[in-house]
Amino acid sequence: MKLLEVKNLELWYGDTKALHGINFSLKGREILCIVGESGSGKSSIFYTILGLLPNYARVKGEINFKGKNLLSLNERELRKIRGKEIGIVFQEPSLYLDPLFTVGTQIGETYVAHYGDKNKAYEETIKAMKKVGIPKAEEKYNMYPHQLSGGLKQRVCIASAIVCNPPLILADEPTTALDVSVQKKILNLFRKMKEEGKAIILITHDFGVVAEVGDRVIVLKEGSIVEEGNVYEIFDNPKHEYTKKLLKAI
Ligand SMILES: Nc1ncnc2c1ncn2[C@@H]1O[C@H](COP(=O)(O)OP(=O)(O)OP(=O)(O)O)[C@@H](O)[C@H]1O
Ligand SMILES: [Mg+2]
Repeated sequence: MKLLEVKNLELWYGDTKALHGINFSLKGREILCIVGESGSGKSSIFYTILGLLPNYARVKGEINFKGKNLLSLNERELRKIRGKEIGIVFQEPSLYLDPLFTVGTQIGETYVAHYGDKNKAYEETIKAMKKVGIPKAEEKYNMYPHQLSGGLKQRVCIASAIVCNPPLILADEPTTALDVSVQKKILNLFRKMKEEGKAIILITHDFGVVAEVGDRVIVLKEGSIVEEGNVYEIFDNPKHEYTKKLLKAI
């Protein structure tokens, strides 16, 4: 059963076309990697799925999630899905986290927004923090973002992405800003979430990341998919010159 199915997706920013007929699908227990050089349209796919595009953007096609076309939903309906049904990990944790609130409050906020239960939110926040491997979660709950390392801040972001236990997680370059050992831990975490049955879309320009956790890969160039396959096919037998070029870069 498909969890997400993107059909013939096209996107324009004003007069400039950024996505040209994108097709892919995803089921549970699967990590799909979207790779491509800077400006190829990776984040544009991410924001289109989440309905977080600027008002001058125009979209065509279908994004079917659990039987609903996300492109036909209004803002209120999308809000019910973001965070609860689709967990979101943004690229830059320091931009996403508010310096004025403790990290525990910020993770719990997502839970409260969807379920309204503040007491349960504390419990679920601690659970999520432990799940992503934040040591001494109860202590860290009361800390502010600037008191945590980059790796811990990224874990806080991942904790808020999973606090509502969504079946699908979208992560845009979640490990780019991290050093290699922290990156390894975060990738292990994604692998574990997959084993629990989650579907994950991982956006990256790093084939090293793909090799670590990817099941399937989509290669994006100038807003079009130029190659798609399972991770072994892509590494052992890349067909497109562009894929070969990207692979050589690692
Ligand atoms: N809000 C926007 N308004 C206008 N054009 C945009 C906007 N966001 C992205 N673009 C353009 O769309 C194209 C795809 O950009 P996008 O950010 O999706 O690429 P990306 O693959 O995520 O790149 P990176 O690896 O640098 O994050 C680029 O040409 C970019 O300039
Ligand atoms: Mg991007």
